[in-house]
Amino acid sequence: MQTHVIRTNWIEGKQVINPEDLKVVADLLIAGETVAFPTETVYGLGANALSEEAVAKIFTAKGRPSDNPLIVHISHLEMLDDLIRERQEYTEALMDAFWPGPITFVFKKSDKVPLITTGGLDTVAVRMPSHDIACAIIKASDCPIAAPSANLSGKPSPTKPEHVVEDLRGRVAAIVAGEEANVGLESTVLDVTGPVPMILRPGAITKEMVASVVGGCEIDQALVSSDEKPRSPGMKYKHYAPVAEVTTYIGDNAIFIEQLMGLVAQAIESGEKIGVMVFEEDLAVLNIMLMGLYPKAVLDAHVFLLNEGSVKHQEVLARQLFTHLRACDEAGCSKIAIHGVSEAGIGHAIMNRLKKASEGRIVTLR
Ligand code: TXA
Ligand code: MG
Repeated sequence: MQTHVIRTNWIEGKQVINPEDLKVVADLLIAGETVAFPTETVYGLGANALSEEAVAKIFTAKGRPSDNPLIVHISHLEMLDDLIRERQEYTEALMDAFWPGPITFVFKKSDKVPLITTGGLDTVAVRMPSHDIACAIIKASDCPIAAPSANLSGKPSPTKPEHVVEDLRGRVAAIVAGEEANVGLESTVLDVTGPVPMILRPGAITKEMVASVVGGCEIDQALVSSDEKPRSPGMKYKHYAPVAEVTTYIGDNAIFIEQLMGLVAQAIESGEKIGVMVFEEDLAVLNIMLMGLYPKAVLDAHVFLLNEGSVKHQEVLARQLFTHLRACDEAGCSKIAIHGVSEAGIGHAIMNRLKKASEGRIVTLR
């Protein structure tokens, strides 16, 4: 399949797509084709959510298991009524507080939404993104757009257009290439079918933020204990994993740096390259220690250092996480060591993704 790559521009602080291109994209979506586009969380791969044939193309392009439901994206509230059967009273306040934005609500679905979109479930996940281009595309096509993250199934979600091109060129009708995604992690998925909302997938909108609006918020037990079956089907799959083997280290930074010195020595000895993701606060110390021990050429060949940003601004780590995991693969790293965070605030979402990427390799330093 020929994939049309469409550029966008920045005009007066806004990301825009020119009107002719927007028409091309809308026509493709109306004709039942797939189009990848930027959102504030990660890039999405869109198709008409109400067309079985169109949605089937998303599953094929991504290699996605058919029981993993899609999120339906809308550009204005009127589009919601057609998609859902009923809703709890408290959802009004949540939509007011967080839409448009990085949160998805799971409602009871209407008959209009085909089962292929919801992975056979009686519920439908809906999100109103805040991204200018995403909204313009949904509006122009005038249909709800099912859009999972625009990666091949199992790979880290795409935060830059080049990630989408790498995974999906030749598999989708068009890719709209915008800027790097601002949030960098997928939306919070919140089940609002019960009397108290429940987080099924943590994201930038945290449990505390939800509770501050409606008084309470639960967390799917599967996010806490691996013995429980997750309520969000997508959470059971291995996800977000780069090719390199990721290990997440939790705890004191001085001990982490000590540990890293050992890992670097091992990488040099075995002829491998290690990706090292550390907070800005530790980067200078680590660099000085490494440069005191090894020649630059040896470090260049065996160590790929990535700055996670300040430990005080974890939204920077969230934004860069998937980009950095993919960059380690590109740099030829066979292993990645990353300094994890505590599970407070956005740290909950960061650690949720890191646990998946690490496939159980979580080391607590003491
Ligand atoms: O930020 C995002 O949510 C991005 C952008 C493109 O909007 N989309 C995204 O979609 O991450 P995807 O398909 O990669 O992840 C959707 C998640 C999966 O874990 C899926 O199982 C869950 O949402 N989900 C979808 N519909 C659901 C439903 N009816 N009940 C429970 N979980 C649902
Ligand atoms: Mg995904």
